[in-house]
Amino acid sequence: QKGGYKHFMLKEIFEQPKVITDCLAGRINMQDMSVQLPELESLAAPKRLHILACGTSYHAGMWGKYLIESWARIPVSVEIASEFRYRDLILDEDDVVLSISQSGETADTLAGMRRAKEFGATIIGLCNVVGSSVAREADHVLYTQAGPEISVASTKAMCSQLVLLYLLAMHWGRQKKTLPDDVRDNAVKNILALPTVLETELPRLRTRATELSRLYSASHSFMYLGRGFQFPLALEGALKLKEISYIHAEGYASGEMKHGPIALIDPEFPTFALALHDELFLKVKSNLEEVQARGGRIIALTHPGLDLNVTDPWIIPELWGPLDSFMALSCLQLFAYEVADYLGKDVDQPRNLAKSVTVE
Ligand code: F6R
Repeated sequence: QKGGYKHFMLKEIFEQPKVITDCLAGRINMQDMSVQLPELESLAAPKRLHILACGTSYHAGMWGKYLIESWARIPVSVEIASEFRYRDLILDEDDVVLSISQSGETADTLAGMRRAKEFGATIIGLCNVVGSSVAREADHVLYTQAGPEISVASTKAMCSQLVLLYLLAMHWGRQKKTLPDDVRDNAVKNILALPTVLETELPRLRTRATELSRLYSASHSFMYLGRGFQFPLALEGALKLKEISYIHAEGYASGEMKHGPIALIDPEFPTFALALHDELFLKVKSNLEEVQARGGRIIALTHPGLDLNVTDPWIIPELWGPLDSFMALSCLQLFAYEVADYLGKDVDQPRNLAKSVTVE
């Protein structure tokens, strides 16, 4: 069942190239480079979008916000479902709510959807499990096609959510004419090439994750830092590490370090940074210099040729635009996996956690 892998989590991380291919199947019309989302045919691009989710799905939603705002110029709020459901909400019939849930059974996400419905908002469900409650109760359903996810820690489901959010951003960007043709063409061409690139890289990424896990698994706390698209990934990296290895980890936007968290940094408190080649690289670099000045060790995911002097660089190939996130996500998942496995933890069934959280 585990296909030769030691754990389902590892198998599911390695399935991600196939998951991306499956998510894209039938979704792109190469004639006019358009995205095919017949599930949303009757729905115009929203004026305002509220994304509703929990845990890893919430991190996917945060990533989607950056892309949908940039490509489709739609204001997006991303809401933790357990907060949204009890807030004094301001919504009306023009609002669209996108509920993201792998299982489609998360109690808070479902309750949030139901509240949004009371205001007449339109609900899109983005879920993996066919026929789940989110799918049944949404007005429109997009399935992520990641296949069954057995490991409690979610990996390939998040990957599939990112693909669908990418397609949604393109779809609405086209409807609103906010996505320039050259960006659209690059977006299509590069995501179609992504599965092969990722498949080739994964074994190498795992080797580096294993090396680093040996160097860092004795740490009791970790700081994960990123900016822009890499900020939600920093949150996700920290969540993966804490849930399967039981090592305390905090995810932060790098620019927030100086507002308090930097006080934590000392030689015993390492940082896992996302320092990729984007428009915020120099800002991240200077944030990391502050960490180093306080003796903090740093693992940094970075790209070839960048001027970055850290304890343990993890150099990965540079991809086009937001697609870097897919490679970075795999690194974060593999690092958490290797640390947890090295420490002898029950990777697929971490303590105190359930695959779907059907209680409040
Ligand atoms: C983390 C994890 C959880 C889920 C969360 C939401 O690895 O699996 O944080 O992401 O419980 O679950 P779904 O997406 O099923 O609503």
